[in-house]
Amino acid sequence: MALKTVLIDELRDMYSAENQLVKALPKLAKGSKNPKLKSIFTAHLAETKGQVERLKKVFAELGEKPTGQHCNGMEGVIEEGKDALEKDEEGSSFEAGLIGAALRTEHYEIAGYETCISMATALGLPKIVKLLNSNLKEELAAAKKITAAGAPIMKLSAKEPESPKEPKSGKEKYSAKKSKEDEAKAAPDLAAESAMV
Ligand SMILES: [Fe+2]
Repeated sequence: MALKTVLIDELRDMYSAENQLVKALPKLAKGSKNPKLKSIFTAHLAETKGQVERLKKVFAELGEKPTGQHCNGMEGVIEEGKDALEKDEEGSSFEAGLIGAALRTEHYEIAGYETCISMATALGLPKIVKLLNSNLKEELAAAKKITAAGAPIMKLSAKEPESPKEPKSGKEKYSAKKSKEDEAKAAPDLAAESAMV
């Protein structure tokens, strides 16, 4: 497959990812009770809308339409964010969970944009590289802001008492079962690895 075809696929993935975030970021902003995080999420929502527009320009440059591929990866990352929003944790511990969810979305996008930029550079598409770089810069800055705002929240969270153990929900039980399966599937490979050491 030609690199340009792979690039278009990757870009459609990014376009879907950004559109999904336009819907997910307000939920994070609404869920957070920390004013600093709230304002970061709200500001990044405005940036994300601009990123969608830049991606439209990228597709116009390529003479292609932006739709055509749903980003399953971002759907999964957002799904995990929903879990963080549904947690019974309170105060800073709840916010700590949101930080993890938000950072995952940013780093997922950073990986996507870095890949697209490498491809567009190799293909000699400077206009597209420039547009994608603007998006990448915003993602990197957002991740940095979230991490910086997170530091004092983590400190406060570390001081909060453990909440009493509650019975697992159906969703949590299913997740625990799947995690055991992950471990069991990896076990033979891990055993082979340790035999080699
Ligand atoms: Fe983004």
